Amino acid sequence: MNYPCKIKTINLNLFYGEFQALKNINIKIPPKNITAIIGPSGCGKSTLLRCFNRMNDLIESVRTEGKVIIDNQNINLPETDLISLRRKVGMVFQRPNVFDLSVYENLAFGVKIHRLYRSKTKILEEIEHALESVGLWKELKDKLKKNAKNLTLDQQQRLCIARVIILKPEIILLDEPCSSLDPIATLKIEELLFQLKEKYTIVIVTHNMQQAARISQFCGFMLLGELVEFDTTEKIFTYPSDTRTENYITGKFG
Ligand SMILES: Nc1ncnc2c1ncn2[C@@H]1O[C@H](COP(=O)(O)OP(=O)(O)OP(=O)(O)O)[C@@H](O)[C@H]1O
Ligand SMILES: [Mg+2]
Repeated sequence: MNYPCKIKTINLNLFYGEFQALKNINIKIPPKNITAIIGPSGCGKSTLLRCFNRMNDLIESVRTEGKVIIDNQNINLPETDLISLRRKVGMVFQRPNVFDLSVYENLAFGVKIHRLYRSKTKILEEIEHALESVGLWKELKDKLKKNAKNLTLDQQQRLCIARVIILKPEIILLDEPCSSLDPIATLKIEELLFQLKEKYTIVIVTHNMQQAARISQFCGFMLLGELVEFDTTEKIFTYPSDTRTENYITGKFG
């Protein structure tokens, strides 16, 4: 497949101590689309996702080889500014991890850390914009002082996405973002991601094959640290090239 790409890895290997969790990964992720990474538990999905904003650096035993290229820059070089990298490549986790603070403070937090804006009016404007883009402004505009822990889980997960968006990222990584949500909340988040792909490059890790099929345009199947196959979601779910992919998507193992 020949297509433009936002994130590319070249011969990427990752070790936790002696254990090799990623084996020679070569992936090309297109811009402004949703790419899903699927595969059984322990195959390295989260590890791969964390390579895209160097979150694995926080784990002491980790050693990485190879390149991760974002917009033609190898982010694995030591001179990479990790703070601006993590602003450009935001991350949302499995359980909504809102701070035990007001909705306003949850959103203003990153703005202050990154010293993006000083003026209160400007911060409020950006908060409105971020809440608007995750469909929460109408619900929360009169509740900005409310503690975020008191929101519903789906509102909390949207707020986590808004917290990333307010920093004006280009890429949003999501690791099983719906696994603590009920089916209705899950659909709401999926609809939101579908809208967000117009502006952002989205990479989502999911156990849920139906979810990958519903929302992604590209899909990678991983097994035992390898990227077995990467293609359009349509191809992966209709005519996969590798029998291991076929066995997985037809439910022969999981
Ligand atoms: N901090 C760590 N130290 C040592 N080994 C780890 C660490 N994190 C993950 N691993 C191992 O690396 C492999 C890949 O883990 P990873 O969490 O990336 O898999 P995953 O595909 O996200 O799994 P799941 O679907 O269960 O979330 C697993 O064998 C796991 O045990
Ligand atoms: Mg995982």
